[in-house]
Amino acid sequence: MRIAVLASGSGSNFEALLHYCRDHKQGLATIELLIINNPGCGAQQRAEKYNIPWLLINHRDFDSRENFDDAILKALQLAKIDLVVLAGWMRIITAKLIDAFPSGRLLNIHPSLLPEFKGSAAIAAALAAGAKKSGCTVHEVVLNVDAGPIIAQAEVEIQPSDTLESLKIKIQEQEHLIFAPAIFSKVRQLVYG
Ligand code: GAR
Repeated sequence: MRIAVLASGSGSNFEALLHYCRDHKQGLATIELLIINNPGCGAQQRAEKYNIPWLLINHRDFDSRENFDDAILKALQLAKIDLVVLAGWMRIITAKLIDAFPSGRLLNIHPSLLPEFKGSAAIAAALAAGAKKSGCTVHEVVLNVDAGPIIAQAEVEIQPSDTLESLKIKIQEQEHLIFAPAIFSKVRQLVYG
């Protein structure tokens, strides 16, 4: 299977996935393309370091989410991508992409224990709520944001001394552990049924 990663930010999950592919020569799937929407973002720099083809599709150049997703879909189809991974993709996905990658071919990582703390500020929301634990979730993408079937989760404890930054570090450590195995369990399911 040919995998594409969509990332908006630092790209630490993208790099963890590249490491997993390097360390587990599984022969089932390869990372073929990174799409970014923020020029010069960390994910782009990591793609350059690992020689992964990357493409900038900037949402600021489009007048609607649908037209933006349409451009992404064309790029994914051109690259013959079978499975798409959102690794810190901070844009809401429309039916254009969701319908083109059915049955769990569009996966996301989210920094909370869904269904708790959906949305783009999940770590801050967990802290503000005084939660005793949070974590991360790998899930299939559906039209309702952060509401698709859950594939994997990992918990972290929140200490009274935790800050946004310290909790983000703890959650991302877990993300880097669970995201790639969850992606490849989905790949195996899609390949072998
Ligand atoms: C990750 O923590 C991911 O869970 C989060 O963005 C971060 C990206 O980090 N995604 C969302 O909040 C999606 N709603 P990275 O760029 O270092 O992989």
